[in-house]
Amino acid sequence: MARLIDGKLISTQIKDELKAEVAALKEKGIVPCLAVIQVGNDPASSVYVNNKKKACAYIGIESLAYELEENISQEELLGIIDELNHNDMVNGILVQLPLPKHINEEAVIKAITPKKDVDGFHPETVGNMCIGSKGFLPCTPAGVIQLLKRSNIAIEGKECVVIGRSNIVGKPMALLLLRENGTVTITHSRTKDLKEITKRADILVAAIGKPKFVTADYVKEGAVVIDVGIHRNEDNKLCGDVDFDDVVDKVSAITPVPGGVGPMTIAMLMNNCVETVR
Ligand code: GUN
Repeated sequence: MARLIDGKLISTQIKDELKAEVAALKEKGIVPCLAVIQVGNDPASSVYVNNKKKACAYIGIESLAYELEENISQEELLGIIDELNHNDMVNGILVQLPLPKHINEEAVIKAITPKKDVDGFHPETVGNMCIGSKGFLPCTPAGVIQLLKRSNIAIEGKECVVIGRSNIVGKPMALLLLRENGTVTITHSRTKDLKEITKRADILVAAIGKPKFVTADYVKEGAVVIDVGIHRNEDNKLCGDVDFDDVVDKVSAITPVPGGVGPMTIAMLMNNCVETVR
C-alpha cells in the first residue's frame, strides 16, 4: 500500500503558520484583505467561495464578499474590479471562475491589477513565473509543489509527467516542476501513446478532468501520483482523475480525493493574500 500524501494535514500546517504570521502583522496594525467576487450561484462555485471565506476567517485575513447577479454586464463587473484595484484597503482580488458565457474571462483576468492578482492568472503574473521572477504563484500548482516538498519527495532530476495543459493547472504545473529542476513532459488529450509516456514518470500529475482516467497501466511501479481532478461519480461520491483503488498498490505515494490537492489550493491562496503585505 502506498503512502498517502495528506493534503488536509499539510494545508492545516500551512494555514497555522499563516495564522501566526497574520497575528504578528496585526500587532503592527497590518491586516490583509481579500475581495472575493462570485457571479451567479453555481453550486460548486458557492462551495469553493465559502471555503475561501472560511479560510480567511481562520487565518485572520479580512474578506469582502461580492455576490453578483448572473446577468451583470461585463462592463459593470469591470467597473467593480477597477474600484477594488484602486481601493487601498483591499490587498487581493479573486474572481471565481467559471464566469457566465456573456462575460469574457480573459478580459476579467487582465482587468485585475497584477499587484492584487492572488490567483496568479494575469498574463504579467504568468510571465514572471515563467522567467522565475518574484511574484504570485498560481494556487493549485504551487500547492502540489508544497505537497511534494513537505512530504520530502525530491523533484530535482526526476522524470515528471503532467497530464493536462490548462492555463490554471497543466501549463503552470509544468513550469513549477521545471523550476524545481525536474525533467518535465506535458501530455494532453491528443498525445500519442500516452501510457508509454506516463509510465516513465517518477512523479505523475493528473489534471485531465476525466474521472478515474489514470489506471494501473498508466503508472510505473513505485511512482508518486498527484491527483488534481475532482468529480462526483455515479453514487454521488467524490473521485479524482486517478482510479485510486486500481493504482494504490503499485505506487509509492499518492494523494487522495478528497483531502489531497483540493485543500492545498486554498492554503496557497491564503499564502498569496499574506504575500501582498509581507
Ligand atoms: N475555479 C476553479 N479553480 C479556481 C481558482 O483557483 N481560482 C478561481 N478564481 N476560480 C477557480
